[in-house]
Amino acid sequence: MDKLIITGGVRLDGEIRVSGAKNSALPILAATLLSDTPVTVCNLPHLHDITTMFELFGCMGIDLLVDEKMNVEVHASTIKHLRAPYELVKTMRASILVLGPILARHGRAEVSLPGGCAIGSRPVDLHIRGLQQMGADVIVEDGYIKAVVNGRLKGTKISMDTVTVTGTENILMAATLAEGETIIENAAREPEVVDLAECLITMGAKISGHGTGTIRIQGVKKLKGCSYTVLPDRIEAGTYLIATAATQGRIRLKDVQPDIMDAILVKLREAGATIEWGKDWIELNMHGQKPKAVDLKTAPFPAMPTDIQAQFTALNAIAEGTGHVTETIFENRFMHIQEMKRMGADVTIEGNTVIVRGVNKLKAAPVMATDLRASASLVIAGLVADGNTEIERIYHIDRGYECIEEKLRQLGANIQRIAG
Ligand code: UD1
Repeated sequence: MDKLIITGGVRLDGEIRVSGAKNSALPILAATLLSDTPVTVCNLPHLHDITTMFELFGCMGIDLLVDEKMNVEVHASTIKHLRAPYELVKTMRASILVLGPILARHGRAEVSLPGGCAIGSRPVDLHIRGLQQMGADVIVEDGYIKAVVNGRLKGTKISMDTVTVTGTENILMAATLAEGETIIENAAREPEVVDLAECLITMGAKISGHGTGTIRIQGVKKLKGCSYTVLPDRIEAGTYLIATAATQGRIRLKDVQPDIMDAILVKLREAGATIEWGKDWIELNMHGQKPKAVDLKTAPFPAMPTDIQAQFTALNAIAEGTGHVTETIFENRFMHIQEMKRMGADVTIEGNTVIVRGVNKLKAAPVMATDLRASASLVIAGLVADGNTEIERIYHIDRGYECIEEKLRQLGANIQRIAG
């Protein structure tokens, strides 16, 4: 298994491009299954999760044309098998996103029930319940969600008990081809849900209210092909900004969308960063100063994303003062804490809050990545630690960060991948 070796102590300084958003690209790829004619998706990030989705499409017999820029043309009408197998779903939970589109388009679908997850139990009951409310018969048998509907799904009012991103996306996609109007209440307002809705609208769907808690969808009989460009990844952008702040450096991000990053930018200013931004760029400068610790609490958009809390915890670990980081979305998202402690971080966990007392320096140690964002936080810890930090199990990082070592090297970091 590959490892990363980071020699800490370098102030990051430079310019990088932000990749397309993984969490937009995955539902948009799933949405292509709703169309009879080819859909082209552009600005896809080069990530393991994206190739897993291609593999899943391959398993279903779907023809794909991928060019050298990772634009992909999906010919969903070539689908032969309406089944997402366990072997792929277990490596990527977001495979559940094909359930709604396949069911709506073909009247039946089988998707392996995603198993446990490092950050909590992560049920999919709300996806299933929403589809049942739209008239589908859904059973869970032999580890698979098996859904069928006689004719078209029926539009209805669906009130989500919890704000769920992929749950909202699954129902939204299914509703585009349903009979009549579907209203999703307590819908997720994440920019990636909005991006999916915009793509569906370009395909001919009738949707309003996306970006608010109530989304209305008027079902249509057919969707058509289009070309759609995925929005920039706000979590990748946030991760590089935090890494730069932690190393007291300076960065310019291009191809980014600052207006969906308020919660993150506000905290970085609180940490002492000077931040300037334009339509598609952000500059952050710490002027060589140590960051100040920040308090934060994760919650659905527009609040602080759960996918960025571990990275802020790494910043707090070497900041001036004490920071409190509270996680309200997932039950077990503190796996990075034990690893950071091995590097000398002064952290305690109280319920769903981590209390981080900033120390002068972290010390390099061998550490293990446990999930995608936890591994990003260990990279940040490695960048500010004395000595060589070895991070194992970096396949987690490759699921969500395109060319992380090239991008960090472009910013001056001393980082190497050792193939294993
Ligand atoms: C998505 C993101 C992930 C992010 C998360 C929260 C993708 C591909 N992944 O994951 O990066 O961390 O949103 O912003 O977009 N829940 C239920 N029942 C359900 C569904 C969810 O109880 O049927 C609960 C979950 O356990 C969790 C909360 O709802 O506590 C939010 O999870 P959800 O928004 O569904 O996360 P994902 O969509 O899986």
